[in-house]
Amino acid sequence: MTKNNVYIETYGCQMNVADSELVMGILQKKGYQLTSEADNANIILLNTCSVRDNAEQRIYGRLGNLKKYKDQNPQTVIGILGCMAERLREDLVESKKMVDLVVGPDEYRRLPELIDTAFTGEKGIGVKLSRTETYDDIIPFREDGLSAWISVMRGCDKFCTFCVVPFTRGRERSRNLESVVDEIKQLSERGFREVSLLGQNVNSYNDNGRDFADLLAAAANVDRLIRVRFTTSHPQDLSDKLLYTIAEHPNLCNYIHLPVQSGSDRILKLMNRTYTVEHYLNIIEKARKIIPGVSFSTDIISGFPTETYEDHIMTLDVMQNVQYDGAYMFKYSPREGTKAYKIDDDVPEETKAKRLNDIIDLQQSISYEINQKMIDKDEVVLVEGQSKKSDQFLAGRTDTNKVVIFPVNDEIKTGDYVKVKINRATSATLFGDLIEVVNPSGEKISLTA
Ligand code: 5AD
Ligand code: SF4
Repeated sequence: MTKNNVYIETYGCQMNVADSELVMGILQKKGYQLTSEADNANIILLNTCSVRDNAEQRIYGRLGNLKKYKDQNPQTVIGILGCMAERLREDLVESKKMVDLVVGPDEYRRLPELIDTAFTGEKGIGVKLSRTETYDDIIPFREDGLSAWISVMRGCDKFCTFCVVPFTRGRERSRNLESVVDEIKQLSERGFREVSLLGQNVNSYNDNGRDFADLLAAAANVDRLIRVRFTTSHPQDLSDKLLYTIAEHPNLCNYIHLPVQSGSDRILKLMNRTYTVEHYLNIIEKARKIIPGVSFSTDIISGFPTETYEDHIMTLDVMQNVQYDGAYMFKYSPREGTKAYKIDDDVPEETKAKRLNDIIDLQQSISYEINQKMIDKDEVVLVEGQSKKSDQFLAGRTDTNKVVIFPVNDEIKTGDYVKVKINRATSATLFGDLIEVVNPSGEKISLTA
């Protein structure tokens, strides 16, 4: 085994995926290499998530089975990065003796130094949160591909009462606009076709007065062949300017992830979400007027403390009302240190589970209905490669993020935009026939060009 081989496993949100690439960018510059097998590594890192208890339990489980690497080679450095490093630093260092390295999201620059410390036999610990760190100057390590995640902000100032993120990722701060644009330029030169701009609450992006709409417009202008996605939007900060900007640029995807969390005003207030259902629905209506064909996805929590059956029905109502294209649905999980943690977690586990099932069932039938309505329509699809199930089919996505499967064609390659006529649909997938090669706006281009 060569020294300085790093294996990294990533849990949780896309922000962590982007952070793992950042970590590898930092480490490679210092001569470390990435390996895809823990067996070949002398440094094993878990980039962790604390958002719900089951995420943490899974990671603790994984830590348990990493012990074998430590037993095989006591020199192996095992490190915890990310949110759990912030939340559980003492527990990790004191009760999980095999953990040599605990590094939070704002201390990744110090990783090479902290790894050196760990190799000397001491614990390498860096868990300070920063008000300014944005890693603007670091070039993340990315394999070649079609899609890239780019974090444009760090931290969160919203303090939703259920959420641990403001405590594990610290205060909100935005990257410099030019540094994001430069990163997209580099990706464009490498042939990437899709970037997703990430932040806990991208709508409050602010680089010296330049807002998220300005950033999106600048991102869209880099390369018309690159689709630009973004997540997550908070209903409080979503501006008209942003909606008009999305409408204006064909390569800004008509897709907004706008978590509602609950359909009950009383629960929203307890969650400190700072909007009412009425306000939320007004935004949806306005967005649909300004951006024809826009689709929405959401996050929903079932069984927040004090949630009654009536509150739950209101959540189902809001889902019916909006007709989301997709939803991420969770049972409430109490997180120590948050405000909601102080409220009695009084909805029984089985009620939470039952309500979550109702929510999942409803979303599935809504997705099915929405997809049925797409039959006979033409969709512009970015080709991502062979379908997982058969080499006779290609798979790609619409700009509203739906997977489309269609028969292979010798003239079509990964990264092309094509127009596909949809002929069949399930709740998760569209199937269709190729019509022609197009550009991202759906205009026909010659196959031989
Ligand atoms: N319990 C359940 N779900 C949570 N989320 C955040 N914190 C919790 C929690 N304590 C969900 C929210 C958020 C998404 C990223 O995770 O829906 O939007
Ligand atoms: Fe958590 Fe709310 Fe911030 Fe999202 S907006 S990261 S849910 S505190």
